[in-house]
Amino acid sequence: MRAATVKDADALAAFNADVLRAQDAQAPQASMGEWTRDLVEGAHPTTRADDAIIVENTRTGAIVSAMFLLSQTWSYGGVRIPVGQPELIGTLAEYRGRGLVRAELDVAHAKSAERGDLMQMIAGIPWFYRQFGYELSVARGGGGRLFPGELAAFPPADALRVRAAREDDVTFLASLDAEAAARHAVYVPRDAAQWRYDLTGHRDGSATRPVVAVIEDDAARPVGMLLHPATLWGANTLGIVMLEAVPGVSWRRVVVAALHHVRAQGEALAARDGKTFGGASLWMLRRDHPIYQVLRVRYDEADTWYAVYTRVPDVAAFLRAVTPALERRLAQSPLAGHNGTFRLSFYREGVRLVLEGGRVKTVEPWRPATTTVGIEMGQGTTDPGRAHAMFPDLTFHQLLFGLRSVDELGAWYPDCVVRNAETRALLNALFPRRPSFVWPVL
Ligand SMILES: CC(C)(COP(=O)(O)OP(=O)(O)OC[C@H]1O[C@@H](n2cnc3c(N)ncnc32)[C@H](O)[C@@H]1OP(=O)(O)O)[C@@H](O)C(=O)NCCC(=O)NCCS
Repeated sequence: MRAATVKDADALAAFNADVLRAQDAQAPQASMGEWTRDLVEGAHPTTRADDAIIVENTRTGAIVSAMFLLSQTWSYGGVRIPVGQPELIGTLAEYRGRGLVRAELDVAHAKSAERGDLMQMIAGIPWFYRQFGYELSVARGGGGRLFPGELAAFPPADALRVRAAREDDVTFLASLDAEAAARHAVYVPRDAAQWRYDLTGHRDGSATRPVVAVIEDDAARPVGMLLHPATLWGANTLGIVMLEAVPGVSWRRVVVAALHHVRAQGEALAARDGKTFGGASLWMLRRDHPIYQVLRVRYDEADTWYAVYTRVPDVAAFLRAVTPALERRLAQSPLAGHNGTFRLSFYREGVRLVLEGGRVKTVEPWRPATTTVGIEMGQGTTDPGRAHAMFPDLTFHQLLFGLRSVDELGAWYPDCVVRNAETRALLNALFPRRPSFVWPVL
């Protein structure tokens, strides 16, 4: 196992195109190879060749397993946090089940800790990453679809036009992005440099190269933006990844103009590839996106939501880092100005939180005692060895990242126990269920 260098570009691009092809596909996926080159050849804002870990057969020199560790910055309730993202993870079929990815993840997690990352995320295949301390906890996807007939039936765009984004739009895109960040519990904010990378930095044919459009009014003032992939998704749909309107402008107007553009783009892509356009996929725009307030959108069985895996190696350190967000939430809750000590148990470990006058005074690791008297029955207690709330396995992540409220967790997991009303009020205040949107800089 070793770090990659720029000299590995060809081999790593071919490896990823081969191993990370679509499910059951006959041919490698060239776009994954192009994306690999984006990352290896120095164009990406934070990633370089030596962020890839590869395992090679020392006899033949062939790459048999690989992954990248990308660096991201997330916004958690408005607080910026560093996040490590293992990505492009794969092993050749004949080398699978030998613990190669397990060994690569050990290295990636150590490297991520060295960088000061407070957590790791993986947008990945079902279940596999749970083996390495990950929990599915940041919601992603689940939006519906607009069929071609529905798109065609919209009234004409009301004095708005849609044009390709230019490099001098990056400041506008960053400011609109900041508005979107404010709607979400967890978000990946993009500054002007990151927007520039998305507009101009990717190779042609890279899987992560987006098409960005700006919506403007008849005085050429930008009033919205739209982002979609350069190729059609499953069912020949064009997927809308981002759609934003400037505050004070009608979402309905912006949405209608954007959808006319999506229809024209989707039909052109379908015609180019000899396919029949399948409509607009709103899957990435979760059902809490403003589009659903100004349109009627149908769902079908294929529209189930998914989520991103998270790993938080030190929950106390994470909570300490996001204290400003927690204090803001507390100040706006029925427990504003509250005093108290709260022990949260993850059964084998936990954290102790001390509040003074609505400020988070202390957050420290805490271990539930094993010497408590008698059987735990979830009843009131004064024993400081017992927790105020208990969360099985990694379910606390679901609360932390706004996926589920504490009541929803309790309904789903009977061994998620909240001992009293004060603790329930605190957990509702600190960790409200809120929409999230995680679309990393790839
Ligand atoms: C998923 C994949 C990366 C696993 O690679 P690998 O090198 O076989 O992984 P490891 O051997 O380190 O796996 C660790 C453990 O999980 C098991 N495992 C392997 N693949 C698994 C899977 N798909 N689901 C569940 N467990 C799996 C292994 O047997 C091993 O078990 P053990 O620790 O009890 O021995 C590989 O199957 C692959 O490249 N698949 C196609 C591409 C892909 O899906 N990549 C992930 C994109 S997010």
